[in-house]
This record gives sequence, C-alpha cells and structure tokens, in this order.
Amino acid sequence: MSLLFQPQQLGELRLANRIVMAPMTRSRAGPHAVPSAEMVDYYRQRASAGLIVAEGTAPSADGLGYCRTPAIYNAEQVAAWRTVTDAVHGEGGQIVLQLMHVGRVASHCNKPAAARTVAPSALRAHTQVFSDAAGLVDTDTPQALSSEEVQAVIGDYRQAAILAREAGFDGVELHGTSGYLPMQFMASASNRRTDRYGGSLANRVRFPAEVLAAMAGAIGAGRVGYRLCPGNPYNDIQDDDPAAVAAALIDAVEPLRLAYLHIMRSPLPELDAFALARAHSSAPLILNEGFDAASAERALQMGDGAAVSFARHFIANPDLVERLRHQRPLASFDRKTLYSTGARGYSDYPAWRD
Ligand SMILES: Cc1cc2nc3c(=O)[nH]c(=O)nc-3n(C[C@H](O)[C@H](O)[C@H](O)COP(=O)(O)O)c2cc1C
Repeated sequence: MSLLFQPQQLGELRLANRIVMAPMTRSRAGPHAVPSAEMVDYYRQRASAGLIVAEGTAPSADGLGYCRTPAIYNAEQVAAWRTVTDAVHGEGGQIVLQLMHVGRVASHCNKPAAARTVAPSALRAHTQVFSDAAGLVDTDTPQALSSEEVQAVIGDYRQAAILAREAGFDGVELHGTSGYLPMQFMASASNRRTDRYGGSLANRVRFPAEVLAAMAGAIGAGRVGYRLCPGNPYNDIQDDDPAAVAAALIDAVEPLRLAYLHIMRSPLPELDAFALARAHSSAPLILNEGFDAASAERALQMGDGAAVSFARHFIANPDLVERLRHQRPLASFDRKTLYSTGARGYSDYPAWRD
C-alpha cells in the first residue's frame, strides 16, 4: 500500500498526506513586503499538499534582502497573510510559514531605508542579489551584531512566530540553510565572534538553538520546524566540519521536541544528511531534494522519514498530489517567470483536465 497518501502527524500538525510543498521564494510580494492577491491564489491552488511551507519570510526589516520578498513584522503584513491562510484552510489544507532572516545576503536596495544589513561578523558574502532598481548588485558589507543585538534578533523571530499564529498559520519553520543568518552563525568562516555565539561548536550553534527555543516557548514546539542542509555552500558558506556542526545543532535542539526537521540532501557525497538526522534526532523528518513519486514512496517505505517535500514539481503542477495519485504526467515550469512579477508563470498554471 502506498504511504505517500496516508495521513501523518508532525507535532501538532495533522497532515492529510505525506506530500509537503517545500518553501519557494517567488518574489510576488507587494510594496512594504506585504503578501499580494496573486499569492492568495497560488497557495490556495496548492492546498491539497499535506502541508505547505510558505516561502522564506523576513521576521524584521533587517531580515529582508531580496526584492519583492514578504515579511511578517507589522499589522498590514499580518492582515494580508491572513487572506492566504484563510484560502488554504478553506480548501482543507495546512500551512506553516518559513522565517528567513537573510543576514549578510542582502542589498540595501531591497530593504526599507532605515533597515540595516547585519551578520555575526562584519564579513561580506561574496555573492550578488537581484534588485529591481539596479539589476544584480553586490551584497552589503554587514555590521556585526553586538551580544545585546543578538538577543533582539532572537526576539524578532519570537515575535514573528507569534504574528504568524495571529495570521492563521499552523506553525513556523526556521530557515537554517542556504547561507542565511542561522548558517552564518554556524559556519566557521562567517563567524569570527569571541562572545558566547562564536568560537566552539557549542557556541556557534547557540544562535539557531536559542531562536528555536524562543519560538517554541512562544507558540509551542509542536508547531515549530527547522530546515537544514548540512554542508550547503550556497551564498558563500564555508565551514571546517559541516557534519559536526549539523550534529551539534540537532543535539542541542533535541530536548525541545520540535514538530519536525526538514532535511535536505547534503551536496557533500560523503555526508548522508538523512542518516545523520535520524541518528541525532527523534523528531519526525521531512526529506527533501530531487524526489519523484517513486523515490519518495521508496524513502517512506524504508522508514527514512515521515514525509517528503517537493519544490520544483509544485511550480507548474498546483494539483501535484492528485497527479501523483493518478500517475498523470507532470508539467514543466518556465524558468523565466520564477522571480518575475504578476500571475503569469505563477498562479496561472492549470490543474489537470481529462
Ligand atoms: C524558485 C525556488 C525558490 C526557493 N526558495 C526557497 C526558500 O525560500 N526557502 C528554502 O528553504 N528553500 C527554497 N528553495 C529550495 C527548495 O525548497 C528545495 O529545497 C529545492 O528546490 C529542492 O527540492 P526539489 O528537488 O523538490 O525542487 C527554493 C527553490 C526554488 C526552485
């Protein structure tokens, strides 16, 4: 019997099936990082996923860094997100919000004038980000957070988790990979701090561990997940020992009893991220990267994880769950409209019609 279409409990989250929509930045937010009407349609169309993890969303103005990405730190943003969560719940779906503070992977072109670009240390990420104003631009040289400011950022995440619940989300997921703020703290090359947030492994994983504890304390650990990808070099991340960092972080958060770990395959061939997570965590695992129906089913049958997430397949297949259930062909997406504006190539991919 297929496991993909069986219900699954992840903490307080009750999934109707084990197909999760992975978070995808699609740059469709309106001015002031407020979710748009197209985003309501887009998420409603995909509500048959057992769980939607909505795109990376900034917990503060400082946490913004890309163009047209959403945020959740004021009433206008909360009200707009409420229209998204109502639409998904109206279709019987569940949705959590991914909280993404980009730290140093940011350009001031893409944030409010008063917002700062901050990081564990004042070291620039050698990468570029797209801006509507000037095209591809170098990332800012960040300001190093003081120890007191680190506490304030943890408070921002906590407040964002509370606002996410107010906006109707079923929970939140901390974005802990892809070179953003949590990973900047964990990786040895981007963290040169000498306080309790830098140096030893235990110190470098302290920031994400304290963020998760703060969010769990505010909304309940059963509604908090964590996304990681051990050894992911994306956005200029370099680390002496990625497997040890991932293990230290997972060990540090194990007592919290989080709803799930959302774990991506490691790009390092010698590092089996799924096995590492299973060895160090009792939390249910959502497995990600490169799955199709057959490999996802196999992974569930092997007991590798509790659910599987799909990102790219959801772009052009809003009814992915039904297509997989009935073995219908999958549509392919247009790369040119991944981060463009408006409904085209976003909320206008049709469901299957016989
Ligand atoms: C357009 C696009 C945007 C993405 N944005 C995010 C994001 O905001 N947060 C995140 O954790 N991962 C993001 N990812 C990574 C996906 O969630 C996923 O890990 C990756 O695409 C591999 O899964 P797949 O093989 O099912 O596509 C993005 C991927 C794509 C293609």
